[in-house]
Amino acid sequence: MSSGIVTGSYIIAAVLFIFSLGGLSHPRTARRGNFYGMVGMVIAIAVTILLLGESANLKLLAPVMLIGALIGLTVAYRVQMTEMPELVAVLHSFVGMAAVLIGFATYLDGSDGYVGVAKVIHEVEIYIGVLIGAVTFSGSVIAFGKLKGIISGKPLLLPARHWINLGLGIASVFLGVEFVSTTDGMSSLLIMTAIALLFGVHMVMAIGGADMPVVVSMLNSYSGWAAAATGFMLSNDLLIVTGALVGSSGAILSYIMCRAMNRNFISVIAGGFGTGSSSVSSATYDGEVNEILSNETADILREAGRVIIVPGYGMAVAQAQNTVSEISNILNDTKKDVRFAIHPVAGRMPGHMNVLLAEARVSYDVVFEMDEINGEFTDTDVVLVVGANDIVNPSALSEPESPIAGMPVLEVWNAATVVVLKRGMASGYAGVDNPLFFNENTRMLFGDAKQSLDSILSELSR
Ligand code: TAP
Repeated sequence: MSSGIVTGSYIIAAVLFIFSLGGLSHPRTARRGNFYGMVGMVIAIAVTILLLGESANLKLLAPVMLIGALIGLTVAYRVQMTEMPELVAVLHSFVGMAAVLIGFATYLDGSDGYVGVAKVIHEVEIYIGVLIGAVTFSGSVIAFGKLKGIISGKPLLLPARHWINLGLGIASVFLGVEFVSTTDGMSSLLIMTAIALLFGVHMVMAIGGADMPVVVSMLNSYSGWAAAATGFMLSNDLLIVTGALVGSSGAILSYIMCRAMNRNFISVIAGGFGTGSSSVSSATYDGEVNEILSNETADILREAGRVIIVPGYGMAVAQAQNTVSEISNILNDTKKDVRFAIHPVAGRMPGHMNVLLAEARVSYDVVFEMDEINGEFTDTDVVLVVGANDIVNPSALSEPESPIAGMPVLEVWNAATVVVLKRGMASGYAGVDNPLFFNENTRMLFGDAKQSLDSILSELSR
């Protein structure tokens, strides 16, 4: 295949990936963005195979790709919306593992064609690729465990954790020098891989529940850099460009997440931010809560003029987005001002609530980000908190020792009445009790959010 066609196709694929990222930045254009990404990927795979020409072992490649595609299709069809972040973590771990395996394969293949500086550069590429890949792999596996609830969401804070991280970092640099300066660097590469795997585990284990959004986007970024490093090892320009796109967009997302959570990026990845020195403390609250029934909730909604709906992870679990949308339509028909307030880390993945509301055809015009709407609660008659907890927890602002201290939250308590829909008094993802539930102007509507909302809807439809 002529190099001109390859370069041209790679440029088209890279441009499509850029359009894809652009499209994914808003729910309105996300479907189109996804389409561009898929077309770009088909071009990338097809041209890469054609580029290999006769050296491509199609007898092996075709069945392996078919099996992979079938597994991918089955998983994508079966996965529940609430399991998406876990799936993303698993996919990141695959990229990490691929970078490690390709690094070792490239090294075992020998660097015969390389001499002098070129050889050093080639070996540095291998070393960095394996390093980032191993951190991404083990970090993503631990993130998967934490998101799935197999591993506790509480941070593991070893006494000398920063020294351990520093020690592992220095050892990796030392082994890297060793690796490029000897003829047989396999033992250095193996030891560094073990260290990097350990570092990935330690880094993610030290991160507290509420900081997981930053970890998810950070691992997304790492997986991009791992892919870029793989591109260098394989001398594949498109993989370098694609990896850099994923790496940098993931880094920007991590920055946005940190800003939304009022966190310092370094503090988050060093672990234990806002958790005190060695243990996680959070206040517990006792007292009476004011319960409310669905028909009473419908009554106060009928009398309200301004309503804000705050969706959280529980709405995704209950799959209540369509009922939420229908209720907002009915209220709109009776000339009420209904808006939605979205916290940047609501749910379990960036944009989780936006996706659900878009699926339920809620107009984008009534969906507001936290910064846009936080000042509006004071003028609001009723706030419906649908399966949200951490994102409306006032202790984030009032308790310096809380694991979520400093995180901006939706200040729903400023409204005249707050109705919280949840099944019981369980805490949210960060494992922190919520004093909002005991406020005088808070009403607890216990039960599965979908069932409660269905009852409210039938009351309102009468
Ligand atoms: P959470 O704090 O996790 O609270 C969700 C609440 O929903 C729970 O307290 C639960 O209480 C309730 N719930 C669960 N199933 C329900 C159902 N079927 N019907 C009604 N209620 C139900 O959610 P949030 O307020 O959206 O906050 C998100 C949290 O996840 C933050 O701590 C955030 O840092 C973390 N996180 C976010 C992300 C991203 S990127 N968004 C990634 C990882 C972690 P009951 O069990 O009592 O019903």
